[in-house]
Amino acid sequence: MKFVIAGTGASGAIYLQRLLAKIDARAHELHLVLSPFAKQVIHEELGELRVPEGVRQHGDKSMNVPFASGSAPFDAMVIVPCSMGTLGRIAAGTSDTTILRAADVFLKERRKLILVPRETPWNLIHARNVATLLEAGALVMPACPVALELPLSVTATGVMGPRIAGGTPAQEGTRRISRDSSARRTDILRGIMEGLLGSITFANGPARDSVGACGGGPPNP
Ligand SMILES: Cc1cc2nc3c(=O)[nH]c(=O)nc-3n(C[C@H](O)[C@H](O)[C@H](O)COP(=O)(O)O)c2cc1C
Repeated sequence: MKFVIAGTGASGAIYLQRLLAKIDARAHELHLVLSPFAKQVIHEELGELRVPEGVRQHGDKSMNVPFASGSAPFDAMVIVPCSMGTLGRIAAGTSDTTILRAADVFLKERRKLILVPRETPWNLIHARNVATLLEAGALVMPACPVALELPLSVTATGVMGPRIAGGTPAQEGTRRISRDSSARRTDILRGIMEGLLGSITFANGPARDSVGACGGGPPNP
């Protein structure tokens, strides 16, 4: 299968990192594009992004990429994390960067476009943009670590953590998201991707919890 994976400047770079680590770049053709703000947030949250061998990287200013044209067949595009800025620009159809043009192409060709926005609370503009994208055929899968990780308490999940524990919200939130401390932690993106795309091959074998990560199935031990 052929995928485009895009990262934008919302916090939650760990979601992108985990997705890249999960999909087998030898079994699939993976193209990666990062917006300039994605690079800034990745630097703040992760230090650096580990890009697996075989993943093809592109700049966000080039239209000279195969997925910027409808004539090149691709299976799916995932924007993770997706800033509300990028989400709004896709909804407006601006198409003036590689990521925006690719998203535009995936929508017009009726291909899978999965957006993982990370923002809360939403204003009315966010909600209207999401509605526009749903109507256009996108799949919107907000990053919701609080619900999916079955937290024992609110503070243990990072919801209140940033302000209690210090550091910027992005830094502290990411520390908490990336910490694999809960035995009940579910494998979020793996479940999302397998549930949505079916026959995807993961770097370390088939998912154990599959769509259960989204649908209440058994968690990873
Ligand atoms: C550290 C940091 C964290 C941010 N977190 C978010 C976020 O969680 N959600 C969001 O929509 N925007 C967030 N932003 C703002 C976006 O980066 C900004 O709107 C930018 O224009 C998005 O551009 P892009 O979508 O092209 O990457 C954050 C910015 C910074 C510097």
